[in-house]
Amino acid sequence: MEFNILTLCYLVASVTFILGLKMLSNPASARKGNLVAAFGMTLAISGTIFLYRNSETGEHLHNYGWIFGGLLIGGIIGTLAAKKVKMTAMPEMVSLFNGMGGACAALISLVEFNHLSKEFAINNSHEFVAAHQPTILIIVLGLIIGSVSFSGSMIAWGKLNGKVKDLSFAGQNILNMIFLLIALGAGIWLVIDPTQGYLLYLILTLSLLYGVLFVMPIGGADMPVVISLLNSFTGVAAAFGGFLYDNKVMLTGGILVGAAGTLLTILMCKAMNRSLVNVLVGSFGGSKNAIGGTAAGPQGNYKEISVSDAAMVMAYANKVIIVPGYGLAVAQAQHVCHELEKILNEKGVEVVYAIHPVAGRMPGHMNVLLAEADVAYEKLEEMEQANEEFKTTDVVLILGANDVVNPAAKTDPASPIYGMPILEVEQAKTVIVNKRSMKPGYAGIENDLFFQPKTSMLFGDAKKVLQDLCAEVKAV
Ligand code: TAP
Repeated sequence: MEFNILTLCYLVASVTFILGLKMLSNPASARKGNLVAAFGMTLAISGTIFLYRNSETGEHLHNYGWIFGGLLIGGIIGTLAAKKVKMTAMPEMVSLFNGMGGACAALISLVEFNHLSKEFAINNSHEFVAAHQPTILIIVLGLIIGSVSFSGSMIAWGKLNGKVKDLSFAGQNILNMIFLLIALGAGIWLVIDPTQGYLLYLILTLSLLYGVLFVMPIGGADMPVVISLLNSFTGVAAAFGGFLYDNKVMLTGGILVGAAGTLLTILMCKAMNRSLVNVLVGSFGGSKNAIGGTAAGPQGNYKEISVSDAAMVMAYANKVIIVPGYGLAVAQAQHVCHELEKILNEKGVEVVYAIHPVAGRMPGHMNVLLAEADVAYEKLEEMEQANEEFKTTDVVLILGANDVVNPAAKTDPASPIYGMPILEVEQAKTVIVNKRSMKPGYAGIENDLFFQPKTSMLFGDAKKVLQDLCAEVKAV
C-alpha cells in the first residue's frame, strides 16, 4: 500500500515537473509553473522520506537526524540566498546552484561505490562482479559528469561575478582532452575490474580538473552557451542517480533538466553562431579581452545628445525600437522604461522592444526583466524580426546594451564576438545610446557603433535618464 502511494507521489511529481516546465515557457505563467514544479518536488521528497522501503530488508529510511538536519541547513541557506540576491546576480546564483547539483551527483557515485566495494570485499566471484558492472558504469558516468558540472559551474560562477579571470595557455585543449580520455579509460578499467577502487579517486580528480580547464578559457560572449551546457550536464548526472537508485522521479527530473539544458544549449549555439562540437572540446571563443579585460580607451569621436533633444526626436518619431541590455537590469529601470513606452504611445508613437537572445547575463534575462514591469509580451520582438524592421524605424533607443549591438561581430574577424549575430541597429535613421560612460560591455571590447555619424550618446544611469526622458516627452 505504502509502495503504491509512493509510486503515485512520484507519478504526480513527474507530471508537475512537465507542466511546470511548459508553464515556464511563457512569462505570464512562469511564476505559477515554478510553484507547480516546486510542489511536485516537495511531494517527491516527502514521499521518499516517509514512505520509501528498502526492497530487500523492507526497512524505512532511518537516519532522520541527518536528513532533516541537511534539509534545515540547506533550506535556510537557499531561502536567505534567494531573498537577498539582486536580479543582476541571478545568473551567478543559478551557476552556483547548478554546481551544487553536480556535486550531489558526484557524491552519490562516491557513496554508492563505497557500498558496493564492501560487497566486493566479501564476494568477488566473476558472476557477482558481472552482475554489478552496469551499476559501476552508471556510477562512473555520474561521477565524471557530476564532477565536471560542479567544477565548471564554480568557475562560471567566479567568472560571472568577475572574481575569476579568463585563462588560457598553449596546448590547453590537448591537456583537457588527455585528462578526459584518462578519466574515461580509468572508468572503463574500473567497470572491468571493480576491485581497483583507487581508480574512482583518479577519475574524480581528473574530471574536476577537466571542468576547471574547460570553462577557464571561455570568455567574451560565449559564457551563455557554457552555462546552459553545464545545466544539461547536471540534469544528466542526476538522471544517472535515478538509474542507480531505481528512482523514477529522480530519473524523470534529471532527464527533463538534461533535455531542457541541451535544447537551450543548441538555441544558444545558434544565437551565437557557434558549433556545439567546438563547445564540447572547449576550444572556442577564448578572449583575452573579456571581463576586466584590456580594452583600450575610446577611439575616435562620438557625439552627445541632451535629454531634451532626445525626447524631441522620439516624440516626433513614427516608430521607436528600444534595445534593452544588461545596463537596464543593473539600473532596475524596467518600470520607468515601460512608463516611457506608454507616454510615447499616447503621443502616437509606435514602440516595440528588440530582444537579443544573449542580452543581459542569463537566458531570457530581458524577457523576465520587462515582464516584471508588465510590458506586453507581444511588444517583444526577437532578433530576426527586429533586424527586418530597423530600416523602417526612426529612432532606436539603446538602454544599457553594448555587445549585442556591436558591429565588430560582423566586420572584425579578430574580435572575440566575431560571428555572433547582432541587432543591426545602425540601419535605423537615428540611434541613441544610453550608458554611463564609454566603458566596454561584458566582452571587454570597443564598440564602433558609438562613433558612427547616426549615433548619439546619452550618458547617465538608465533609470535617471529614463525618468528625465519621461518628463521631457510629456512636456513636448
Ligand atoms: P553588455 O555588453 O555587458 O553591456 C552592458 C552595458 O550596460 C555596459 O557597456 C555598461 O556601460 C552599461 N551599463 C551598466 N550599468 C548601467 C546603468 N546603470 N545605466 C546605463 N547603462 C549601464 O550587455 P549586453 O549588450 O546586454 O550583452 C550581454 C553580454 O553578456 C554579451 O557579451 C553576452 O554574451 C554576455 N553574457 C550573456 C549571458 C546570457 S545567457 N544572456 C550570460 C553570460 C554572459 P557603462 O559602464 O558605460 O554604463
